[in-house]
Amino acid sequence: MNTSRKTALITGASSGIGLDLSRQLAREGYDLFLVARSEEKLRALANELGHASVILADLTSPNAPQKIFDAAGPVDVLVNNAGYGLVGAFPDTDLQKDISRNCSCGRWSPATADTFSTSPPPPPFNLAR
Ligand SMILES: NC(=O)c1ccc[n+]([C@@H]2O[C@H](COP(=O)([O-])OP(=O)(O)OC[C@H]3O[C@@H](n4cnc5c(N)ncnc54)[C@H](OP(=O)(O)O)[C@@H]3O)[C@@H](O)[C@H]2O)c1
Repeated sequence: MNTSRKTALITGASSGIGLDLSRQLAREGYDLFLVARSEEKLRALANELGHASVILADLTSPNAPQKIFDAAGPVDVLVNNAGYGLVGAFPDTDLQKDISRNCSCGRWSPATADTFSTSPPPPPFNLAR
């Protein structure tokens, strides 16, 4: 995206909190990079919002962060949101699966200042655990 507008990258933009935050950031005039696995949902959202690019990525994949950075470049706002929750009684849930999956998704964090267009970088908006 070639623009002078502020940019925001939202992981997990295809549903829930990420989708709502994408709509909010669009209302505030940001150009968006929408990240998730569900192509149809992301393309529909990008069409709805305008000024939005779709980046398809599975954040459990080790090369996903580089793929996303290559597609988006530095951004002004990072919403680190992709992940999922388990519902049910604690003894009945798969703790190991919960930890590994959410930690894998959360790995997309601004480990490098290159992620951001400003220096020093702003803190990410972290929802993923
Ligand atoms: N809702 C709550 O009360 C609550 C509380 C505490 C923390 N959180 C955290 O807040 C975040 C959002 O919650 P939510 O309730 O909005 O969840 P949600 O509606 O289930 O949405 C999860 C989003 O993450 C994406 N995602 C999941 N796995 C992914 C993967 N491997 N690669 C890329 N994208 C992936 C999903 O997209 P695709 O399936 O299209 O890839 C979807 O867009 C999660 O990290 C959750 O753990 C939520």
